[in-house]
Amino acid sequence: MKRTVIYLLLTFLPWPATGQDKVAPRKIKENFWYKNSIIYNLEIGVFKDSDGDGRGDINGLIQKLDYLKMLGVDVIWLAPFQPSPGADDGYDVADYYGIDPKLGTPGDFAELMHQVKKRGMRVIMDLVINHTSDQHPWFQNARTSKTARYRDWYVWSPAKPRDGNKGMVFPGVQKTVWTLDTTTREYYYHRFYKFQPDLNFMNPEVMQETQRIIGYWLNQGISGFRLDAVPFIIEVPKTGSEKPKLDFSFLNDIRQFTQSRQADAAILGEANVEPKENVNYFGKNGEGIQMMFNFFANQHLFYAFATGDLGPFKKAMEETSQIPQSSQWANFLRNHDEIDLGRLTDSQRRKVYEAMGPDTNMQLYDRGIRRRLAPMMGNDIRRLEMAYSLLFSLPGAPVIRYGEELGMGDDLRLKERLSVRTPMQWNGTKNAGFTDADSAFRPVISTGEYGFEKVNAERQWRDESSLLGRITAIIQMRKACPEVGLGDATILESGSDDVLAIRYDYQNQSLIIVHNFSEQPRKVTLAVPGAGVKLYSLFGSAADVEVGNDRLAVQLPAYGFRWYRAGRLIP
Ligand code: NOJ
Repeated sequence: MKRTVIYLLLTFLPWPATGQDKVAPRKIKENFWYKNSIIYNLEIGVFKDSDGDGRGDINGLIQKLDYLKMLGVDVIWLAPFQPSPGADDGYDVADYYGIDPKLGTPGDFAELMHQVKKRGMRVIMDLVINHTSDQHPWFQNARTSKTARYRDWYVWSPAKPRDGNKGMVFPGVQKTVWTLDTTTREYYYHRFYKFQPDLNFMNPEVMQETQRIIGYWLNQGISGFRLDAVPFIIEVPKTGSEKPKLDFSFLNDIRQFTQSRQADAAILGEANVEPKENVNYFGKNGEGIQMMFNFFANQHLFYAFATGDLGPFKKAMEETSQIPQSSQWANFLRNHDEIDLGRLTDSQRRKVYEAMGPDTNMQLYDRGIRRRLAPMMGNDIRRLEMAYSLLFSLPGAPVIRYGEELGMGDDLRLKERLSVRTPMQWNGTKNAGFTDADSAFRPVISTGEYGFEKVNAERQWRDESSLLGRITAIIQMRKACPEVGLGDATILESGSDDVLAIRYDYQNQSLIIVHNFSEQPRKVTLAVPGAGVKLYSLFGSAADVEVGNDRLAVQLPAYGFRWYRAGRLIP
């Protein structure tokens, strides 16, 4: 059965029986841990250095688990930590069964898993199997001869296919998707950089090996995987045409295998696709991958942030609303890559560029912006707080990236996406408390308004008015509002282009959450049938309000937001 999420201009839903002590039957979807989890993404190498070598490590992360717990994190998503030459920051794996010795040992990893579990948190990890590093022993073997043991684990062509210079994921940086192997004089296929040869999933051995990798990491205590580059894994690479056929049965197979090993393990897919494709990824009845990042909504949201025009974002929410009961969206603002605006129209993208990334050095791959959120929003704490209040109240599970909770900046001197991967800023001492070494392996942001002396965790830790303080409060509130991740969402007509009002209904509980995207105060009247129902304000200063005559009047300051619960403060 589909999750019913109805978006209407005007709604005539009666308030649920809030206030009565009727116990609704519990629904199966409550059992899925990922439906309402707060996910925090980090790279071990830039999080905390424990041994003074200038690079973050597993033991450093262990030291900071209490910080993550305090913030309210449920799930830590670890960026790749396996042995790798590091040419794509770990997304070029050279050994799927190891730990990069620069980050720690298998023993350290086991300790990390213990410490995470002890605190009631979980870990998911990147699973990068579309491609390996060209340094991986499989590829090293594959390129020795056309009859080599691992030759058919990769995709080869005797001649360069006609459209070989199309379909690059990193246009501008990457020139082709077929590169000549000089030993065997054949071309190998790579959707990404040329040092990342694609694995051949038409070969059953590759699928078997993938299952071994999944089984191995589940055994190490992992709760799920962020599956990298999903649309490229499932493409059938005949001769690498630009628009290849996709084989979705792979997703069902991988899901089934994963669950056969660990019933509640989840797969979170990286697939930036059109809404009509979603059903193929989630499966009609949720038999595909459980979660996907909502890239489609994300880019339209940034259009709304940039212009105040909410129309396209509301439409994107509507178009991505129908998902199976057991499925869930992962919402995010910024991630470790460029913000991908490829699905906006040229004129929409131009407007986002103008407002949030006007210099060409801020833009990347002809489609995105390589900045962190705080600089994109002019470091305006009202805008940032509103953005996070929204993130934590959109239908789905929220994902934040390390340092965003502090409003960290970017370093545009670093190449491509490294600009948003600078070391975590813990305090105001040398190298931001990230490392005791004289210099960090990647520069810490040390000057200007985002320099570590101004922006750091210690400075914000006890200050409720800081971004960290505000985001922590939002997260705590989100955890007390299960309606968001589990309920039916309805966009309410607000009568204002730049005010978004969403109502959530779940298990006799209702929320109304309102956000003002404008830099001007707004007064809106929402159509919410239920005269006389009291709405309790869930955030500090705003007052409780009463719905009068089927209309709710809400006054919002510039970039203001309100979370209300109907009928009762605490259900
Ligand atoms: C997607 C990841 O998010 C990105 O960082 C990486 O470069 C590519 N996949 C290739 O693995």
